[in-house]
Amino acid sequence: MRNNRKIMIAGNWKEHFTVAQASIYLHRLEEAVQNRQSIEVVLLPNVLTLQPLSVQLDRRKFRLGAQDGYFEDAGAYTGEVSMAMLRDLVHYVLVGHSERRHVFNENDDVAAKKMQAAVRNGIMPILCVGETLQERLAGETNQILHNQLSAGLMNLTAREVSASVIAYEPVWAIGTGEFAKPDQVARATDFIRKQVEHLFGARAATHVRILYGGSVDDHNAGSFLSLDGCDGALVGGASLNYHKFAGIVETAYRVHQERITRR
Ligand code: 13P
Repeated sequence: MRNNRKIMIAGNWKEHFTVAQASIYLHRLEEAVQNRQSIEVVLLPNVLTLQPLSVQLDRRKFRLGAQDGYFEDAGAYTGEVSMAMLRDLVHYVLVGHSERRHVFNENDDVAAKKMQAAVRNGIMPILCVGETLQERLAGETNQILHNQLSAGLMNLTAREVSASVIAYEPVWAIGTGEFAKPDQVARATDFIRKQVEHLFGARAATHVRILYGGSVDDHNAGSFLSLDGCDGALVGGASLNYHKFAGIVETAYRVHQERITRR
């Protein structure tokens, strides 16, 4: 089957920007980022800024995503914001980001419930998977990816998996400046797609988008985006700099144009 997957560039702002700062930043970003219909650009600001940004946002250029969402739609869960509350605001939600797993001790069971809650509420989940340095050095990368994928996707149908996004984010590459080598990314994204095929069939494997995340910037983005099995980037630090983020979107557009001319 032909690869028609749309390249996604997603900016995870993490715990940065107040509402006022986010508004100013978005204004600059909208000037810097070209309108490229063939690239899907997603912004993932903190939950407090989602509402004001949704009003300000140029919907021809950007889509919104949440960094997290709770799996119970409503109830006595102090401090939580549910997928049901996010559904009218966002297209996407991150699930199982390594910072949720490692700083907040969220396990695969929680990720599975959040995946299910996201699709139940019509939000497309971006499931984050990836090994720690210790796990890589111990030769456990594939085992970790297998465990996180099979648990995270457990409650979804093949159709729901097809519409989902998986982000390969090796923990050792996040926020360290030490990005994975393209061949490491290629091996991991190929393995992930094979796992999806094994669990959900060829159609789901052909449609699911697999991103790379971990110290992506405007200089290295091209080396990941030009890999056949890599459908985009999940960008942390560099998404807080509008020059760099706009540069990554332009790189994605160039890669897309090259793919079209090769067909
Ligand atoms: P950095 O791009 O800062 O390494 O962060 C990656 C990430 O965690 C995106 O979700």
